[in-house]
Amino acid sequence: NAVYRAGVLGHRPGVPTDADALERRARRVMSREAWAYVAGGAGSGATMQHNREAFARHRVVPRVLHGVVERDLGTTLLGVRHRSPLLVAPVGAADLVRPDADVLIAEGADAAGVGYVFSNQGGSPMERTATAMGSTPFWYQLYWSSDKDLVDSLIGRAEACGAGALVVTLDTTVLGWRPQDLDLGSLPFARGLGLAQYTSDPRFTALVRERLAGTPGAAARTPVTLGALRSLWSISRHHPGRLLDNLRSAEPRAAVQAFLDVYSNPGLSWDHLATLRDRTTLPVLLKGVLHPDDARRALDLGVDGLVVSNHGGRQVDRAVASLDALVAIRAAVGPQPTLLLDSGIRTGTDVLVGLALGADACLVGRPHLYGLALAGADGVRQVLENLLAELELTMALTGAPDLAAVTPELLAP
Ligand code: FNR
Repeated sequence: NAVYRAGVLGHRPGVPTDADALERRARRVMSREAWAYVAGGAGSGATMQHNREAFARHRVVPRVLHGVVERDLGTTLLGVRHRSPLLVAPVGAADLVRPDADVLIAEGADAAGVGYVFSNQGGSPMERTATAMGSTPFWYQLYWSSDKDLVDSLIGRAEACGAGALVVTLDTTVLGWRPQDLDLGSLPFARGLGLAQYTSDPRFTALVRERLAGTPGAAARTPVTLGALRSLWSISRHHPGRLLDNLRSAEPRAAVQAFLDVYSNPGLSWDHLATLRDRTTLPVLLKGVLHPDDARRALDLGVDGLVVSNHGGRQVDRAVASLDALVAIRAAVGPQPTLLLDSGIRTGTDVLVGLALGADACLVGRPHLYGLALAGADGVRQVLENLLAELELTMALTGAPDLAAVTPELLAP
């Protein structure tokens, strides 16, 4: 309401309120590499398009004379009260957009009262980002490393710094085919960006030391690729401070190599996850589930919820839209399990549609990065507040006083 009133009274917002305008404006201030990395998708880009088309297929049916004056956006997720059903999705190597990105995103999210899922490939150690979150809930996203001790170490740190849940991302056991990044030569994390969770970790540092000491096995397996070296050179030229910060605990080449060795786990299977529930006291969500059978099997493991996501269209080209997958999964698992949705959410009305179709909350991955590019923490705050303001207005115009009233009834059959 305050956002809307300010606009009506002639206050021009610092970042565009329209999603496409926001993206266009941000592109102008972002480097070529940052733009390719953030805006790019898998293959032809069809999945990103499917995500948007899926939202566009649904029609909201406004209602009149319902007398709804106040709207409550609050919701309980995994037993914790959140001020809204919106979260900031985990984004790795966001330092490519602006140095200190994770901390700035945390400050913006906290100012908007929006929860934030820290990326395993964050640009700052999770403990530092956690401090910037104030009292706003945050979760920790994990890639299931091929090094079991590293998994345990990262989980232990997430528990210790106050994360409210663990989000294990399953759809990135190998990185998708991303032409925009490939054509520019390399991916940011191979440039030393997005390694901070690792280089600040005792287990990872031990792995790097082993490598430097020439311990047989780990060191010899992966040759340093030309791309990785070129990238290191490029990052030391463009972001010298970042490189030192990210790699200060370890010799850069060995750190990047150790990272390339352990970050992904192409052999990840249901068997690995069998022990997951016993490894942490935190609620666990699995992210990147799109098939109803996978959803059922995942819930059978005893996890606390799922994030229905196609990774913002960055992993598989021509993939099913997340919103369509949500509908199928909700039908398969029934009303109880916690389901979150991301991929393609650009407006407050998209959030309303996602909730109406069965999501308990929604995440945004790219829009807040555009706010970050344009105006730092304050840009993040504005983007998030705009999404919430539009959601609230749409609830007002559909007669929904709270999220319990956001049901399929609000949509045309
Ligand atoms: C991501 N995403 C992601 N997911 C994850 O689990 N861990 C990660 O480190 C990253 N990194 C990442 C970087 C960038 C630049 C983007 C854009 C995305 C995926 C992210 O969490 C989310 O699923 C999508 O971004 C949601 O789609 P939209 O909102 O970007 O369309």
